[in-house]
Amino acid sequence: MNMSPLLFAPYDPRQDSDVQELFKAYPHKEYQLRTIGVSRDQMALYLESTLTGPGRQIICLRDDGRLVGLIALQPLPSMSEHFGSKMYSIRHLLARSNSPLVHARLLRYVIEELPDVDFIDCRVAVDDVYSAHALEVCGFRYVGAEIFLGQKIQPHEQPKSLPGIEFRRCRRGDLSQILRIVGETHVQNRFVYDPIIDDTAAKSLYCRLVANSFDADPFEFIVADSGKTIEGFITLKMNPAFSRAVGLSCGSLDLIGVRPESRNRGLGAALNRAALHLMAQERAQYVAVRTLASNYPALRICFRTGFAITSTTLFFHRWIHPPNRSSRAVVPRGVNNLQFAQSVIG
Ligand SMILES: CC(C)(COP(=O)(O)OP(=O)(O)OC[C@H]1O[C@@H](n2cnc3c(N)ncnc32)[C@H](O)[C@@H]1OP(=O)(O)O)[C@@H](O)C(=O)NCCC(=O)NCCS
Repeated sequence: MNMSPLLFAPYDPRQDSDVQELFKAYPHKEYQLRTIGVSRDQMALYLESTLTGPGRQIICLRDDGRLVGLIALQPLPSMSEHFGSKMYSIRHLLARSNSPLVHARLLRYVIEELPDVDFIDCRVAVDDVYSAHALEVCGFRYVGAEIFLGQKIQPHEQPKSLPGIEFRRCRRGDLSQILRIVGETHVQNRFVYDPIIDDTAAKSLYCRLVANSFDADPFEFIVADSGKTIEGFITLKMNPAFSRAVGLSCGSLDLIGVRPESRNRGLGAALNRAALHLMAQERAQYVAVRTLASNYPALRICFRTGFAITSTTLFFHRWIHPPNRSSRAVVPRGVNNLQFAQSVIG
């Protein structure tokens, strides 16, 4: 029986310089790093730099002085506001272990000891089986899988136009139409598969996220304008902190939506191309995108516009203090997500 002293303590950047070794030893996502062209050392340095953001709760586990695990929680302000609970995301669950034991100890610690945490989500690489087992043991619920894709890009020519459609940067007056598309289309998300969450609140989440990011740096929106209506939109952003850390200009495509009646006519792929063209003009060298693994139309347009799969992750949720539905659901019952979309923009 191992009687060595185990010690949980908040991460202290002045003392815990060995966390970089834990990041370097993480054996998953190798292919993704190789595709982007980033070394494990660069990535470890970047990830260490992200541990000191506002509101983060980070715990190190030492066994007889040796760092054997780390768990990092990052607050989710927009989701907390939307669902009316204090929500966090596990950004890192790292363990030097050939079983799920250390992962489970870290998870139990945050579930039992950290104050003011109502909900945690966790995304794990599909081959990180020990983390997935530990999450199951600690009462997390599987809510979906995501696929990450990426491609290297270079400045390229203006993409071919679609007859009758102008692709342009959006204007303030486009917001209500964009929110209407979001309200109609972005209703399949992992919160819909979480039975603790009010269905209406889950379906209207993306209206809130789009409304919050509309005027906010670093997001940019492109719309497909038929002259009469906005037929679709796409959002994109550059990631300057990561780009600086790895010496490569990186960005991502975030949300895309096309009116249901205008789908399967090439608009989705054309929006992707317009966004890639804009990013190339902004000197992006690598562009990433992620989508639910079951979103076949979204995967199809990614493949058609040059993206390749780089990794797959599983998503888990755990409620520590489940909301009292009637008092805490922010979107009132009986209000559908289109009405909510309208209420967000006033
Ligand atoms: C994803 C989305 C933007 C695609 O828009 P679109 O205008 O239909 O895209 P395109 O017409 O360029 O291409 C759609 C492709 O998906 C394919 N497709 C449609 N339904 C499919 C299905 N159930 N299974 C597999 N492929 C499917 C179409 O055949 C087409 O491929 P093809 O041109 O090679 O035949 C649109 O479906 C949408 O708004 N979905 C809801 C929002 C969403 O899920 N966004 C992505 C996550 S943010």
